Amino acid sequence: MSFQFTGLIVCGTDTDIGKTVVSAWLVQGLNATYWKPIQSGLDTGGDTAQVCKILNLSRERWLPEAYKFQAAVSPHWAAEKERKCIDPKKLKIPSGRHNLVIETAGGLFVPLNRQLLQIDQLMQWSLPVVLVAKTGLGTLNHTLLSIESLRSRHIPILGLILNGPTHEDNPKTLEAFGNIKILGHLPPLEELNSKELADEWHKQSLSTKFKQLLRNTN
Ligand SMILES: Nc1ncnc2c1ncn2[C@@H]1O[C@H](COP(=O)(O)OP(=O)(O)O)[C@@H](O)[C@H]1O
Ligand SMILES: [Mg+2]
Repeated sequence: MSFQFTGLIVCGTDTDIGKTVVSAWLVQGLNATYWKPIQSGLDTGGDTAQVCKILNLSRERWLPEAYKFQAAVSPHWAAEKERKCIDPKKLKIPSGRHNLVIETAGGLFVPLNRQLLQIDQLMQWSLPVVLVAKTGLGTLNHTLLSIESLRSRHIPILGLILNGPTHEDNPKTLEAFGNIKILGHLPPLEELNSKELADEWHKQSLSTKFKQLLRNTN
């Protein structure tokens, strides 16, 4: 895929919801560069390493984190544990970059410091959001709350990507109550690798969908 856009932000309705795996899906499908500005939980392995491993990503396709912390806790606290404080000035989109896929830390209301939430930082970035949500029980509440929070701050949403086993009712209920499009659905993959992700990407015609959406927003 060879078209240019500024960037998009991968947010999740929760932690452990599939943001990293979906980011890898998008990085590959959109021929993009991956950036995880704030990484907490290096104790349990970082997301950049995970994306590089899944995609066998070359060095020029990922940017180093602005902040990395050991503890697997909210970024504001992970920083404090290391006597640091996240400064939003260090989170500016690197200049001259395009086709960026930026993975946020945790959910929208995760604090970055004692004054700033993740969602406040999204307003500064002014890039469109892809919201990752699980397919199963609990997703309706979490996803609809997340959509409402983004919309009330005028943060553009490209759409949802669902992650997990097929669910009979949730997709249509999310689309209806959320007034939102489900762009893609990533099923549980036995092996997380570039080929499995590419197969799903093509099966769901995601290049065409994203090309249209990103043309209108970037
Ligand atoms: N579609 C999927 N198929 C297989 N494993 C998945 C899938 N989505 C997520 N996982 C696994 O679930 C865990 C959480 O996913 P991850 O993408 O790291 O979530 P997040 O970035 O939101 O914290 C990881 O171990 C990941 O490998
Ligand atoms: Mg992650």
